Amino acid sequence: MKVCVVGGGGREHALAHVLGRSCDVVVTPGNPGIAGSTPAPPNEIEADLYVIGPEAPLVHGLADELRASGCPVFGPGADGARLEGSKAWMKELLVAAGVPTAGHGSFTEPGEAIRFLDGMGDLFVIKTDGLAAGKGVLVTEDRGEAVDAVRSYLSGQAFGDAGRRVVIEEGLTGPELSVLAVCDGRHAVPLAPAQDFKRIGEGDTGPNTGGMGAYSPVPVAGDEVVAEVMDRAVLPTLAELRRRGIDYRGVLYAGLMLTPQGMKVLEYNVRFGDPEAQVVLPRLRSDLADLLAGAAAGVLGEPPVYGDDAAVTVVCAAEGYPASPRTGDIITGIDAAGAEEGVTVFCAGVSSMPGGGVTGGAPSGAGQSMLSQSMLTAGGRVLTVTGQGPDLVTARNRAYAGIAHIRWPGRYVRFDIAAAAVDSLASGGVG
Ligand code: AMP
Ligand code: GLY
Repeated sequence: MKVCVVGGGGREHALAHVLGRSCDVVVTPGNPGIAGSTPAPPNEIEADLYVIGPEAPLVHGLADELRASGCPVFGPGADGARLEGSKAWMKELLVAAGVPTAGHGSFTEPGEAIRFLDGMGDLFVIKTDGLAAGKGVLVTEDRGEAVDAVRSYLSGQAFGDAGRRVVIEEGLTGPELSVLAVCDGRHAVPLAPAQDFKRIGEGDTGPNTGGMGAYSPVPVAGDEVVAEVMDRAVLPTLAELRRRGIDYRGVLYAGLMLTPQGMKVLEYNVRFGDPEAQVVLPRLRSDLADLLAGAAAGVLGEPPVYGDDAAVTVVCAAEGYPASPRTGDIITGIDAAGAEEGVTVFCAGVSSMPGGGVTGGAPSGAGQSMLSQSMLTAGGRVLTVTGQGPDLVTARNRAYAGIAHIRWPGRYVRFDIAAAAVDSLASGGVG
């Protein structure tokens, strides 16, 4: 089977890497770190299956365009992608489907929004309605900061049109969990759960980012938690989408909080998480292409198979991320990191050295890193390093052993990814 993966980040590198176990893979536009990358647009690539990675092309209808020309596509149409494209619409749908979620209001007027804030508890949560690359959420105990955010979001100053409507939510507390379900329009199967780390700073401090690391499996999320997420969130959501005439074929990613009052959905994404994909996909033992092709055709096959192993991924970000990442620095050590046992490097915000800069050696197979090519930083989240092993401790040690090789001026890494989960396992708890 030939698969075309659309996108150019670490998630798409992980998709290409795992699909490459059984398929020929091309990635558009990809990046210089992913073998099989091509600048040709998806509609000029012939493939048996198209897998769309990022949210923006889904929201803008790429899956519809490809389906209209007869291509099998894994990824929802623009109608289903609204779940991520509009938080206000998503919340309305969750309420209609009876899915547990934080209490909320949605506003376009600052006066009304600020009056609503005053009725909230002492944790304020302000979200852009539209897409903001994971950065449009403010969680704060400082009412002044919340009011300033409401004003700068609604004026368009902070996030352009994406912020001209805001969703204000009740602040929840508890461990977070990402459950990614593969859907064929009627049925859904969960992938292994993961936990990601959204804040830039260690100890979950500072602004939200697209994610600074992730691990899987998650000690607090046993089979019964995943079953509850499927029964109370994913399946009712899929049924409500269907009731509205939406044939949802793709990933439904439930971002959850396990609160003292039970599981609640914080958000839905309409794609694989990044960096969750970099832990959930490499752990898969069954064939990813079969799973995605079945979903794309509307007939899910066998459920995914996982073993007892673990994976931890750590993001290497550029100095200044998320506000204003510095770019153009030479990256070293990718080869050495990838040579460590159980370590895979997935490239995201990278570009080639001007003039080629290839230091020798042939690129490896589809979806593998083109490790011998010298690269420059070209974005905020530059690359992710995944460690795999028989347990979380080994996987975590391997990820950081890989990270130790990778260098550029100002490289930023959180060193507490999966630390609490490892500590809880060591003390005999469940996380
Ligand atoms: P979202 O993009 O909606 O998942 O929000 C990003 C992050 O903000 C989440 O991963 C949580 O850490 C935090 N967050 C979102 N909604 C809430 C909420 N209602 N209460 C507390 N924290 C939240
Ligand atoms: N890791 C969060 C996301 O993909 O949105």
